[in-house]
Amino acid sequence: MSASSRDSLEHLPRGAIVCVLGTRPEAIKMAPVILALKAAGLPTVVVTTAQHRHLLDQVLELFAITPDVDLDLMLPNQTLAGLTVRCLARLDEIFAQIAPACVVGQGDTTTVFCAALAAFYRQIPFAHVEAGLRSGNIHSPFPEEWNRIAAGRLAALHFPPTEAARRTLTAEGVADDDNILTGNTVIDALLIASRRIAPYRFEGMRGYALVTLHRRENFGAPVRDITRVVRELALKHPDFGFVWPVHPNPNVRDHVHETLEGLANVRLSAPLDYVEFLSALSGCDFALSDSGGVQEEAPSLKKPVLVLRTETERPEGIEAGVARLVGIDPEAVRREAERLITDADARALMTTERSPYGDGQASARIVEALRRRYLSDQTPAHKDAP
Ligand code: UD1
Ligand code: UDP
Repeated sequence: MSASSRDSLEHLPRGAIVCVLGTRPEAIKMAPVILALKAAGLPTVVVTTAQHRHLLDQVLELFAITPDVDLDLMLPNQTLAGLTVRCLARLDEIFAQIAPACVVGQGDTTTVFCAALAAFYRQIPFAHVEAGLRSGNIHSPFPEEWNRIAAGRLAALHFPPTEAARRTLTAEGVADDDNILTGNTVIDALLIASRRIAPYRFEGMRGYALVTLHRRENFGAPVRDITRVVRELALKHPDFGFVWPVHPNPNVRDHVHETLEGLANVRLSAPLDYVEFLSALSGCDFALSDSGGVQEEAPSLKKPVLVLRTETERPEGIEAGVARLVGIDPEAVRREAERLITDADARALMTTERSPYGDGQASARIVEALRRRYLSDQTPAHKDAP
């Protein structure tokens, strides 16, 4: 449904909790919260900016979530400024019409930045899921570091996923009552999907690495270098596979296909749907990725991750020994990947028994905190939520 007219919004409950999401990772991480809000019988409106169109729809379908409002904003090769302008204007209209009790958004995307700002302009409280992550470098990840700082500065209620993120917010001046440690909802989503995961196998290969790459700061030379390293490794180890679901951004997709197409041990594909992706992650020997979500999922599936970035806002995986920050220097990427391809002991050393990112109960904690703060006249749904 599109929200092109005020009439189309009139049936939506005024004073609801409005959940805003736009990209694949937001859909994955907000789905457990939306399902828990609905299960609790709390008035909930789901608004999608559709900053991502195809990547988003697969996830919403899997979790059987139908947005109440779909702004359908994605344009091919969209600019950050263009997207921001469209998002902010449309969200403002929706918020004016619904007068939400609060707006909830997740993470560090353009969508969450605009949701926090549009809520602030209407003096509606904003609650931030996955709050308090910081790389310490405003240029990396770009523009996500800025987006989460801004969303955090505008938020009334913060849901940090880890103790370190909670402490960061405390150091920034957030009061304890507004700073609620929840765990990361990505683990809730993984548990919901887990019954359907079947570890993938790459026929004819003794193992394989799962590769993903999409961050803006890696466009250009880093994408070219990393793709070349994967090609060289694939040629050197013909019995070892590489599975690469390629992000649809043309800045990544075209180059990856041109460089790697035709190699028997490299499987390039369109983005996998979420359950398929988790199946590919759970069957791999290690992941090679610049993704935030993959860093969080890998420990639960006991998979090492080589992080293709120069800094990370997710130090917990590094500290637990399951993730290694290899950066984007092609020699370092080649050396570390080669070690994991050839040395099973090195891989075994990079696993952990317990995920540092959560226990699968984050959404119950978030819903309880939202109910208490913004809908205190509603019946508690999770009486024994922590
Ligand atoms: C966005 C987020 C990033 C998140 C990533 C997850 C921002 C600034 N960045 O980056 O934090 O890690 O999503 O994937 O919000 N496209 C399609 N179909 C889709 C999705 C994307 O064709 O379903 C193509 C379009 O050409 C689009 C481009 O990818 O213009 C980039 O999408 P965009 O949302 O601007 O940025 P991402 O790099 O995906
Ligand atoms: N993912 C997916 N299909 C893919 C690649 C990733 O479903 O082909 C999922 C993955 O399980 C994780 C999320 O997308 O939960 C990560 O999204 P992405 O890497 O695009 O963004 P980030 O986490 O870096 O913001």
